[in-house]
Amino acid sequence: MALPTKKASFFPFLLLLLVTISIFLVTPSNSATDTFVFGGCSQLKFISGSPYEYNVNSILTSLVNSAMFTSYNNFTISASQDTVYGLFQCRGDLENGDCGRCVAKAVSQLGTLCLDSTGGGLQLEGCFVKYDNATFLGVEDKSVVVKRCGPLISTDSDALARRDTVLDFLGASDGTYKPFRVAESGDLRGVAQCVGDLSPTECQDCLSEAIGRLKTDCGASKWGDMYLAKCYARYSQGGDHSHGGDDTDNDDDEIAKTLAILIGLIAGIALIIVFVSALSKACEKIARWLNKLIFAYILSGLKKVLIEKMFMQTNVCKEDEH
Ligand SMILES: *[C@@H]1O[C@H](CO)[C@@H](O)[C@H](O)[C@H]1NC(C)=O
Ligand SMILES: *[C@@H]1O[C@H](CO)[C@@H](O)[C@H](O)[C@H]1NC(C)=O
Repeated sequence: MALPTKKASFFPFLLLLLVTISIFLVTPSNSATDTFVFGGCSQLKFISGSPYEYNVNSILTSLVNSAMFTSYNNFTISASQDTVYGLFQCRGDLENGDCGRCVAKAVSQLGTLCLDSTGGGLQLEGCFVKYDNATFLGVEDKSVVVKRCGPLISTDSDALARRDTVLDFLGASDGTYKPFRVAESGDLRGVAQCVGDLSPTECQDCLSEAIGRLKTDCGASKWGDMYLAKCYARYSQGGDHSHGGDDTDNDDDEIAKTLAILIGLIAGIALIIVFVSALSKACEKIARWLNKLIFAYILSGLKKVLIEKMFMQTNVCKEDEH
């Protein structure tokens, strides 16, 4: 009899755990900025424990600290003859806190991805981080790093025209320095970003290249990403997340949601079972009590009847004797 009561007291705890897990799963993560876009490392490795390693660590620490206050910064550290250059660039619409978190995440991923490499670069959705011993600061670089195109727009020439309008708007220059650009038309959205070490004219040139390539290389795609070494341009339609990383992220979200619903369901069923079993236990008690009562009543009634019968019988017997 001791085992069932133990189980019953463990059940609510399990229930609480399940509910907590489902709440945790429903809480949105910062997937929009943390999603991996690309990363690369130089082939050359530095010697562990060398002054160069110390410089790399100093640069990466400086980047993380600085990203809490500004959306772009560059650092150069030269102790002995081992010079390291580093920079970070956050997407222009990020708050300082989000920028800092994004750069911290990128730097920690770089640490594992480019272990002991003399240089490395990593682009997340929300930020870009790069360090190297060859100077790249202030150098325009339009080489294509990542190109991704979505499925074709459904033979709708209006949609294609709208796409081109958005891209033209993204690429347009009014002479002012705009390293971060957003353009929207209906459900079509374009975003462009330069790394902050480019001059205004270099930034404009880089973005023109990226946007031109998007148009030609992605044709009539529903979405497209064009990441060059120092700038990028992207567009997407109808809230369609525009690349694989985001898509898997959505899948993850869907899975998390489904799981949360499932766990919620299980918790609900468990709750009902607990309730019903508690109810049945209570009912059992009442039933037992009622049984006892009825039994006692019947017993007493039976006794009465029996005694009466016995008396009657003795009376009859007595009468018979007469
Ligand atoms: C960068 O570091 C590597 C390895 O120590 C070295 O071979 C290379 O010459 C360095 N490059 C520059 C530009 O200092
Ligand atoms: C690097 O940072 C320094 C100091 O913040 C700044 O004066 C310089 O213009 C930056 N250089 C580049 C290439 O962004």
